[in-house]
Order: sequence, then structure tokens, then C-alpha cells
Amino acid sequence: MIDKLAKCGDLNDEELKTLIETDSYDAELRAAADAARRAVYGVDVYIRGLIEFTNYCKNDCYYCGIRCGNKNAERYRLTPERILSCADQGYDLGFRTFVLQGGEDPYYTDDMICSVVSDIKSRHGDCAVTLSIGEKPYDSYEAYWRAGADRYLLRHETAAGDHYRKLHPDSMSLENRKRCLWDLKDIGFQVGSGFMVGSPYQTTENLIADLRFLQELQPAMIGIGPFITHKDTPFREFASGTVESTLRLVSILRLMFPYALIPATTALGTIAPDGRERGLAAGANVVMPNLSPTSVRKYYLLYDNKICMGDEAAECRRCLEARVELAGYRIMVARGDAKTPDVMKRVAV
Ligand code: SAM
Ligand code: FES
Repeated sequence: MIDKLAKCGDLNDEELKTLIETDSYDAELRAAADAARRAVYGVDVYIRGLIEFTNYCKNDCYYCGIRCGNKNAERYRLTPERILSCADQGYDLGFRTFVLQGGEDPYYTDDMICSVVSDIKSRHGDCAVTLSIGEKPYDSYEAYWRAGADRYLLRHETAAGDHYRKLHPDSMSLENRKRCLWDLKDIGFQVGSGFMVGSPYQTTENLIADLRFLQELQPAMIGIGPFITHKDTPFREFASGTVESTLRLVSILRLMFPYALIPATTALGTIAPDGRERGLAAGANVVMPNLSPTSVRKYYLLYDNKICMGDEAAECRRCLEARVELAGYRIMVARGDAKTPDVMKRVAV
């Protein structure tokens, strides 16, 4: 099955189910995934400077610690100037991609977002700007694109309609989430999608639906991480996802999408001290250290026990560099766009 997945990039549903549910193939699966990432990306690991600029959100996703219904969350917003100074500091530390992430916060108008994006691009023309600010109308996405944004992260969360309804209130829909992803692709963004592993009520069939949806979407980036319980959400009684099943899915994704940018996520590092290193060894090739000011980091709490809360940006960068090297990989100072089979052919010539 692993050979077939490595060669064809696909398996039938029954085979995928076996691979997802069985731990006896883990070592071979990770080795095959690591070989696939090395064939395309070598030992390179791309870094993204994450700027969590607002934890206000109008949505009420049942799993998320910054959902509007969480009255215990202390809220903050960064000014455009503060966001720019995080990016400036990140540039000096060698970051060439900035990810502006936040809850869906109407305080930031499209004009404000566009002006922050174009300010970053004019100060740091060799950098990519990624937005991760949720579901918006087509026209807003188009305005961000025109302002210079290069990439957009929007996890689909789960591709199964009945599961989606168990994780979100009625005001949200899988149809709109998917509409956003297709709009973003249509406009020209490098799109990132993904899902949580071990989210409440998730079945293996749901995970297979996630993989099938990603095959349809063909995103440049795929972000997955374990669901982690947050004490102030309706899912407070549910157990977190496991490191093993998340790593298994990372490896399956690497074999299905050899060219994708796949992060070893902070959530993976939160459920296991060496989670991110193991994520790299399982096929991930991106890490996203935090560039948010330390004074606000403790408020961007999507889940309990989040790591890297007190470290200055420079410390985060140094710590990750050491971890990446110890795991046998190497951090690149580059925008880190996804490679394509086309580029590989040119390199071979
Ligand atoms: N508002 C934007 C959006 O909806 O895409 C970006 C911010 S949102 C907090 C980023 C991601 O955090 C979500 O896509 C979700 O998968 C993840 N997340 C939220 N709560 C989580 C939890 N309890 N455990 C793990 N991941 C979580
Ligand atoms: Fe909006 Fe989590 S509910 S970011």
C-alpha cells in the first residue's frame, strides 16, 4: 500500500482506511514520506513569521478558544504600525514570508488590510504576504490580491457536511467555506487548506473525505494539526487528537501531494515536546515561529497549553533553527514558494 501510494499518489478508500487506522505501518510510512519530501525539497525547511494581529472573532466555532462566545477570553488588536514593526523585526531575523492571522474581526476593514499588505510589500519587496483571516466575499479577496497578498490560508476544517455541522453553529456552512477556497484559487492566490485530526465526532470516513477534497482542490499548502481541547469551549470534555494519528496523516499527505508545503504545526508541538521535529521527519517542510509581540501572545489561545508563549521573536527563531538542525534538516532564508513538477523538470535539465 505504501509503495502504491508513493508511486501513484493515491489509494482506494479501503486502503486509506487501513493505513489511517493501523499503527503497524508507521515506520515505513514515515520513511517513504521523508524520501518523497527529500526528492522534491531536499532537507530545506521554510519558515513563516506568524503575526497574530487580532483575537476578536465574530464566529463561534465550537472547538476554538477565541470564538465570540468565550467571555473569558481577553481580547486585543494590533495597530497597523505594530503589525508593520513585527514584520520589520521578522525581516531582520531572516523571515521572507509573513502570515497575518486573526479571528474574523470586522474592525479591520478591507482598506486597512490592503494598506497593511501593501506597506509590507513596499518595505520588503522580496517577501511573500500570507493572509489567514477567514471567510470573505470575492471582492474582498480580490482587493487583497491587488494590494499584493500572495497566499491565503483557510482550512476547510472537515469536508463532510454532517461533521461540519457538529463543529460549527448554523450561521456557518461548509458550502461557503469551499466557495471561499475556490474563489481564492480563481483569483490567483497560492491557497492553503487543511483540517484538524481527532476533532470531536470525526470518523475515518471523514478523514478520507478530507483527503478527497484536497485532491480536488490541489492546494499549494496543507495545514493539519491535532484538535486540542480548550477549557472554555463546548468541547471542553473531548480528548485532544494524538500525535501518532496526526503524523500518520502528515505522511499520507506528503505521499499524495509531494509538492505541497506542509507545516509541522504549533499544535503538534503542543501535544508532544518533540512534535514538530517528528512532523518534519514524517514529511512536513515548513515551520511557523511566532512574531507576535510577547505582550499579546498569551491571549491568542486557540487551545489549552499552547507553546512558545513567552519567547521573544528572536528566541523563537533560534530555538526552531536548533530543533530543525537536530532533526537533520535546514532552515532556508527564502520566500519558500511551492515547487511544481514543471520547476523540477527545469532544474533537472
Ligand atoms: N479565522 C481564520 C480562519 O478561520 O481560518 C484563522 C484563525 S483560526 C483560529 C486558525 C485555525 O486554528 C483554524 O483553521 C483551526 O483549524 C485551528 N484551531 C482552532 N481551534 C483549535 C483547537 N482547539 N485545536 C486545534 N486547532 C484549532
Ligand atoms: Fe473565529 Fe476561531 S472562531 S478564529
